[in-house]
Amino acid sequence: MKRIGLVGAGWVTQHHLDGYRALGDRVQVVAIADPSPAARDARAAEYGIPRTYPDAAAMLAAEELDAVDVAVPREHHAAVCLLAADRGLPILCQKPLAPTLPEAEALVACIDDRVRLMVHENWRFRPHYRHIRRWLDEGRIGRPRQAQLAILTSGLLPDADGRLPAVVRQPFMADLERMLLMEVLIHHVDALRFLLGPLALLGATLGKSCARIRGEDRASLAMRSADGAAVTLFGDFMAHGHPPQQLDRLEIYGEAGTIRLAAARLELVRPDGTETAALDLDANYKASYRDTIAHFLDRLDDGAPFETAPADNLETLRIVERAYAIG
Ligand SMILES: NC(=O)c1ccc[n+]([C@@H]2O[C@H](COP(=O)([O-])OP(=O)(O)OC[C@H]3O[C@@H](n4cnc5c(N)ncnc54)[C@H](O)[C@@H]3O)[C@@H](O)[C@H]2O)c1
Repeated sequence: MKRIGLVGAGWVTQHHLDGYRALGDRVQVVAIADPSPAARDARAAEYGIPRTYPDAAAMLAAEELDAVDVAVPREHHAAVCLLAADRGLPILCQKPLAPTLPEAEALVACIDDRVRLMVHENWRFRPHYRHIRRWLDEGRIGRPRQAQLAILTSGLLPDADGRLPAVVRQPFMADLERMLLMEVLIHHVDALRFLLGPLALLGATLGKSCARIRGEDRASLAMRSADGAAVTLFGDFMAHGHPPQQLDRLEIYGEAGTIRLAAARLELVRPDGTETAALDLDANYKASYRDTIAHFLDRLDDGAPFETAPADNLETLRIVERAYAIG
């Protein structure tokens, strides 16, 4: 049984803790650290976490841990990861690794090979993205020619009560200087890299209309895969006519067929017929956290590389950073 110390008790940790719970006897969160007594006590009570601490340093000093799970705001990731590294503990750190690419590179250089570090980049672990990857690996649509991924929501349009659903869900989004791309679409950049291999950024346009948040509310990226497929990522959180939920719409057009993900429907379209799968998106959302954590534990056990090791994740961050520079 691996003993985990969780740093942070905010919104996302309900999903981490559900994931740990789903993994049963293999792993236990033995301590949680957060400066907010209300937040850490609530998580400890709900998930039966034996001990709580006001900060990571106190937790690391007092606990015998096998690994540390970092789920604090991005500007604190580096400091907490370095504390864990100084104790020689493996780290699973939420995305984005740091607020900027240079800060992420500095963190990775500082950790070097002292401890194992995996980025908690969970989109690619959604079961339907794994399914799409299997179809691609099996050559079911042949060589991808083009792909487009769109995330259109009305989450930053006022609802009937004048509230912004995306900010009600995750209040910290309102204060992020880099919002949509660094917080949300970074997942999609990573998922596209996972599916289609290395991507080069050709162009980007970012924009902001929502006066009630600091950062951008839309972003459009034009990319190209190593074998020449055009790859477009299009995100807008003020899209009239779309629901507040984030629903991915992905189409990959191959030489022998098309893969289409539209909200809860996944399709493989080929000249000899269409395969369709109905998805349980809520279950898959939960599964993505569980499977990210399981991957972390599996790779700690067998010593093999993490899929989302720093070197891989920095490639995602390079695209994101460059998009901010040119967009
Ligand atoms: N992978 C995903 O799908 C996903 C989804 C949501 C959030 N996230 C990421 O998770 C991280 C946290 O997001 P959140 O939604 O839980 O934010 P949040 O604002 O709800 O919670 C952050 C918590 O961290 C605590 N905190 C702040 N500084 C701390 C420190 N130094 N040590 C310990 N605790 C500290 C705060 O008191 C708060 O309870 C961010 O990096 C965010 O990008 C990832």
